[in-house]
Amino acid sequence: MAGRVRGEEPELTGDAPAIDVGASAHYEDPEYYDFAYRDRRDDVAYYARLARLSGGPVLEYGVGTGRIAVELCRAGIDVTGVDASAPMLAALERRFSREPEAVKRRMHAVRGDMRTVRVAGRFPLVIAAFNTILHLTERKDFERFFSGVRRHLSPRGRFVFDFSVPHADYLGADPHRTYGAPRFRHPKSGIVRYRERFEYDSLRQVLLMELHFLPVGGDAPWVVPLTHRQLFPQEVEALLHYNGFSDIHWTADFTDAPPERGADSLVVSCRAAHEKIRKASQPRRARVKAKATATRQKRT
Ligand SMILES: C[S@@+](CC[C@H](N)C(=O)[O-])C[C@H]1O[C@@H](n2cnc3c(N)ncnc32)[C@H](O)[C@@H]1O
Repeated sequence: MAGRVRGEEPELTGDAPAIDVGASAHYEDPEYYDFAYRDRRDDVAYYARLARLSGGPVLEYGVGTGRIAVELCRAGIDVTGVDASAPMLAALERRFSREPEAVKRRMHAVRGDMRTVRVAGRFPLVIAAFNTILHLTERKDFERFFSGVRRHLSPRGRFVFDFSVPHADYLGADPHRTYGAPRFRHPKSGIVRYRERFEYDSLRQVLLMELHFLPVGGDAPWVVPLTHRQLFPQEVEALLHYNGFSDIHWTADFTDAPPERGADSLVVSCRAAHEKIRKASQPRRARVKAKATATRQKRT
């Protein structure tokens, strides 16, 4: 595919991004990832609709195995997808290898850290789907990420992302016990019993989820840590506001309905405020001069 997985642009082959284990371990096993979320389709349809309306191209942060990106490419949209995980990007390549040439050509995958990556171009739609944003932890992470998003948005472009609303059941779960879920057939390890443990750090606002896999056939059990920053909606609104975004719209659970209490996922759509801010903060005389210069340049 034109979008063979490559380094950040211009071509970078440096060290792999330094990512916390809680934001990487779960993505070491993309076959399980795709199996676990195979029925999650509402978000795919939602982002595909937005992409079609935008006309593309689309920049997707945390593109993963291309679960969403492939639908966008099938719909005729060019996608640049950034991800820090080599195994997830390898799975994306495998997924696209089964697609027609025209679809392959639309996918450009870049390995990089969403806090620092720079890719070519500006985009009318930038997305970060399925809790990707919850892999940022500190204020500085958000500042760097949002600054990159703003840099990659075209002037009237929109940034859309979704995240799970913090839920009391998880935040208040007993960290000394594990909670069982039905056994299932793991794509590589056969039938496994499955349990989860939750531990919430209320100062860092980080939820640790431990995924416990216990193969029935006698293979050794394993545990995968997954951490999510818990983002509270009012905090997200403040973060966006103070990081140069405006025109912030909220919907719930991949419908067009405004959020109500009890929503699982919130979908946020906003745009960079810098155009507006720059205009408002420019004195009138400077604005008139800039306009006259632009007109002169157009004539010459
Ligand atoms: C929940 S997955 C979402 C994947 C895909 N968007 C989807 O909906 O299936 C989150 C993705 O974010 C990636 N990720 C986590 N931290 C990252 C970082 N700092 N920079 C780039 N990607 C990151 C992970 O490797 C993973 O593929």
